[in-house]
Amino acid sequence: MTTTKSFADEASASPNTPIVMLEEIGKSYGSIHAIRGVSLSVRQGEITCVLGDNGAGKSTLIKIIAGLHDYTSGRMSVNGEERHFSSPRESLDSGIATVYQDLALAPLMSVWRNFFLGNELTKGPFRQLDSATMKRIAQEELAKMGISIPNLEQPVGKLSGGQRQCVAIARAIHFGAKVLILDEPTAALGVNQSGVVLKYVVKARDAGIGVIFITHNPHHAYLVGNHFVVLKLGRVALDTHRSEITLEQLTTEMAGGSELEALSHELRDIDAEVVVDTAVEEDRT
Ligand SMILES: Nc1ncnc2c1ncn2[C@@H]1O[C@H](COP(=O)(O)OP(=O)(O)OP(=O)(O)O)[C@@H](O)[C@H]1O
Ligand SMILES: [Mg+2]
Repeated sequence: MTTTKSFADEASASPNTPIVMLEEIGKSYGSIHAIRGVSLSVRQGEITCVLGDNGAGKSTLIKIIAGLHDYTSGRMSVNGEERHFSSPRESLDSGIATVYQDLALAPLMSVWRNFFLGNELTKGPFRQLDSATMKRIAQEELAKMGISIPNLEQPVGKLSGGQRQCVAIARAIHFGAKVLILDEPTAALGVNQSGVVLKYVVKARDAGIGVIFITHNPHHAYLVGNHFVVLKLGRVALDTHRSEITLEQLTTEMAGGSELEALSHELRDIDAEVVVDTAVEEDRT
């Protein structure tokens, strides 16, 4: 990918400049404001966790960066340059790879074909698929990440959810992603598989990639995150560095913070009434 190369060259010139910067970004679908005034910076070698409840605007945010939807207000810059992506390909060509929970890979195709999907190697004047080289590279790249999949001929659909996420992450790294967006990669996984995926999220960061990790789970976020952004009803409710927050504070923030406290008061009142009512009922009988 030639565009990726030039992007990488520019990025390495100033490592502290955010690769992706959103300033007061908004997106409305007709009269619905999915997100409003969202600012966010993604830097190389950092994991930025975006947390939020259902409908908070997480998917809308990544769709903008991934080129699926354009924003309706604010400014997005990629490597210091203002951008409006009109397709996912444009985002990818700018070095931004997005791994969607279910759509990351083609389930019926083999592991190695998936690894090269859209970037197939060919040989000879008739541009035949160079299967042998693709298999060898896929094997090497997965091994480099410590991912053990004994048979790369098996369809991806036969892999576990965690293995699938790992293949998608390894592929993004191999094809030169500078930013990796992971949409709830651990949401459907058990404890062990989540651990495996989180390990590769850290490997991606250590490879110098700026990772955006979308999750509902503050525990997963806190295990790997350098930076935390909590969205609430389409707005940024919290934007903080790891050194400024504890897991307990992040969990409380995610659970609703002051809203949770108000709810607990409300529930306590309701419970008290229920007890009194039952007692009254029992007295009557
Ligand atoms: N295409 C659309 N048309 C209209 N409204 C939309 C559209 N996409 C999202 N919305 C609205 O925008 C808001 C944010 O949705 P979004 O999908 O970004 O939330 P989310 O944080 O990803 O939620 P979840 O955790 O459930 O995936 C919601 O109120 C949603 O109903
Ligand atoms: Mg979503």
